[in-house]
Amino acid sequence: MQRQIKKIKSVNGELMLPGDKSISHRSVIFSSMANGLSIIENLSGAEDVASTINCLKQSGCLFKQKNNLLYITGRGFKGLTKPSAPLDAGNSGTTTRLLFGLLSVQNFESTITGDNSLSKRPMKRVMEPLNLMGVAFKEPDKFTLPVTILPSENMHAIRHKLQVASAQVKSAILIAGLHFNALTVVSEFTPTRNHTENLLNLKVEKSENYTNIYVSKADYPKPGQYLIPSDISTAAFFMALALIANNARLLIKNVGLNPSRTGIINIFKQMGGRIEILNQSVRMGELYGDISICESTLNNIKISEEIIPNIIDEIPILAIAGLFATGNFRIEGAKELRFKESDRIMAMCYNFRLLGLDVDEFEDGFEVSGKIKNSSIVFESFHDHRIAMAFSILSALSDTGGIINNFECIGISNPGFLSQLESISG
Ligand code: S3P
Repeated sequence: MQRQIKKIKSVNGELMLPGDKSISHRSVIFSSMANGLSIIENLSGAEDVASTINCLKQSGCLFKQKNNLLYITGRGFKGLTKPSAPLDAGNSGTTTRLLFGLLSVQNFESTITGDNSLSKRPMKRVMEPLNLMGVAFKEPDKFTLPVTILPSENMHAIRHKLQVASAQVKSAILIAGLHFNALTVVSEFTPTRNHTENLLNLKVEKSENYTNIYVSKADYPKPGQYLIPSDISTAAFFMALALIANNARLLIKNVGLNPSRTGIINIFKQMGGRIEILNQSVRMGELYGDISICESTLNNIKISEEIIPNIIDEIPILAIAGLFATGNFRIEGAKELRFKESDRIMAMCYNFRLLGLDVDEFEDGFEVSGKIKNSSIVFESFHDHRIAMAFSILSALSDTGGIINNFECIGISNPGFLSQLESISG
């Protein structure tokens, strides 16, 4: 579906955004593992989270939605049941990689499939460490979906040094590690989002160059109540809009402010963004607060490589903000962007070239310079929700607006994007 996005006149008001996608996946998975009834409040309505729910439904867990609450009856320790068909993770890398960890320890064979995009994404990063834990795969040398996990009698705890800065890989190992009496220790050298550690209240030891995370059966989740903060990655699109639109003033309420995710706020502030955090509180190890944003004069800054995993999902919208800042926008050390829902380096560069900008594309990033020369562009989303929303924000800021191809992909993380945009637009 093509969607036209017109220039918005003004940005003003308050937004209450849906629950964080990463925390939603984990809450659903931990509730499904627990023995009994758990309740989740403010779950993300993302299609990705629905993929996790569907896979776990097919594995014997019961789900009931009532108002803003999701009731889940979990199956207990190694209690999932054999699905009658392959599990379809849709477009969701998080569903796939986290469920790899959980399905590996069950006593049945299972297959995970995905859509076109997910079937191209790398799974070796998660299959290799699980293999070191004793997991066997039907086709051990094939590292893309569909993948069939074989039941194994010989699984065990490991000490593992992460080879990729990936919260998904880290979480898969930690989830498998919940099934052994012995300690599994995961060492992380570049910090990534730590929601799995927070929600399971795991022991974490930080030293100068790395962090060790410890997990064992003693940490196995119990039934509980989860309250999910609003998604900072979703908020980032509206933050950028409010930083750039004339006379904008926006308050985004109750957003997750876990420091492993707030790199985008720090960068916007360093660029000159007038952003204030109000009403902070902590629940289930996660920091929340309201974000107040005003129109600002932005300057591009050097973005350091260590921060990339923290802002990995926000780079498309950060680059859009960079177009409205003085100086060139440049990002490097971000090769991981090539392995997301689309090759996001290629996707951003492709659309920037349509605008007539000068683009220098490299293996691990890109630099954009020059002035926007072309208007009324039909942007290509590459079926990637974050590319579609990033260029929707650019269109909303452009006199002639813009058109987004395959706009429906926004549902992967935020089906309510357009109504949220409308609600704050004059
Ligand atoms: C996620 C981790 C990140 C992120 C993804 C969600 C998670 O991926 O890009 O959208 O919930 O763990 P990687 O950990 O693979 O970088």
